[in-house]
Amino acid sequence: MLERCSISTPKLDGSYLEKPLLRVLSGACEPVPPVWMMRQAGRYLPEYRAVRARAGSFLELCFNPELAAEVTLQPIRRFGFDAAILFSDILVIPHALGQTVRFVEGEGPRLNPLIDAAALNSVRREADQAVLAPVYETVRRVKAQLPKQVTLIGFCGAPWTVATYMVAGRGTPDQMPARQLAASEPIAFGRLIDKIVDASARYLVHQLEAGADCLQIFDTWAGALAPQQFERWGVEPTKRLVDKVRERCSDAKIIGFPRGAGAQIPRYVGETGVDAISLESEIDRNFAAASIQSLVPVQGNLNPQVLMSGGEELDRGVDDVMTAFAGGPFIFNLGHGILPQTPIAHVERMLARVRGQRAT
Ligand code: CP3
Repeated sequence: MLERCSISTPKLDGSYLEKPLLRVLSGACEPVPPVWMMRQAGRYLPEYRAVRARAGSFLELCFNPELAAEVTLQPIRRFGFDAAILFSDILVIPHALGQTVRFVEGEGPRLNPLIDAAALNSVRREADQAVLAPVYETVRRVKAQLPKQVTLIGFCGAPWTVATYMVAGRGTPDQMPARQLAASEPIAFGRLIDKIVDASARYLVHQLEAGADCLQIFDTWAGALAPQQFERWGVEPTKRLVDKVRERCSDAKIIGFPRGAGAQIPRYVGETGVDAISLESEIDRNFAAASIQSLVPVQGNLNPQVLMSGGEELDRGVDDVMTAFAGGPFIFNLGHGILPQTPIAHVERMLARVRGQRAT
């Protein structure tokens, strides 16, 4: 089935040849898929927890280039992943747009909620670049220290997902506050989305200029929208974001993660023009292979809970994912972020299995 894959990279320069993950994003099938994990820099690592304790607050860590570069590199040193993802958060954009953002230990993000049209309209038109400058410095520092075969991934949240946190002020089970405000105040909500699109495009372009090799757009809450709303608030703003980034960086490689969008993902691919799709664990694998991987390379899908369980369940989980996506371009990853309680030995076992080494 390897005929399905074609190398169609617009720019066959040295970095594409050296980096397996970029080769896959260009349509190549690697016999051993490149591998990384969402949230690979995180609390399951003692060395992360040590730096996190030194940094003060979570946002202080995000805006400290020395420490943020260090935690970005930790999982590369320990595991030899094929990609490093910039250490930051999707909520630095609301912060740069003037909203108060803080992270409560053990609970998650807290923002001052935007409860009505007046609150939506009060958000700044442009992100404060002085706030975001340390993130670009982190990218430069990581780039300078990264082995040449390792891909550096920059990222942002999709406009819809960022807006859900700005409106609700936190994560909720279904992000209902944003869905309600989008329905009752569509014009003001649309203006908020426009501001996030502009700020995110600029943010991503600066990450590319600082040395990011490719980008990922996290739409964690895509699945909270019904199809028509997903078109309006998910697909269309993401398309504008992708277009704006490519106006400045025409060959930017972009992975989309429209979590929970299921049957709408082929349309999302066609309309947004993303180069690859990150797949959640819950997606139907046959559908994903036949209807998504036939369009673009795919990434992901191992259930983070299976990684946490370990043992033979993990071996089977890895094998199932590898088999399902062996017929086309594929990047091994989780379906969502690694859970903080995950034993390090399980990550090692997963990597050995993916890379065809004997489990220890
Ligand atoms: O290693 C990496 O993946 C890179 C860094 C990264 C973080 N957040 C660091 C982080 C990335 C890519 C993100 C994306 C992000 N942030 C998303 C989209 C992906 C997803 O997980 O759905 C979302 C929705 C956020 C917002 C956010 N940040 C939440 C809801 C939380 C709380 C949940 C939690 O795990 O604590 C965060 C905090 C956060 N972002 C942590 C990390 C390492 C944990 C905070 C800590 O160390 O105290």
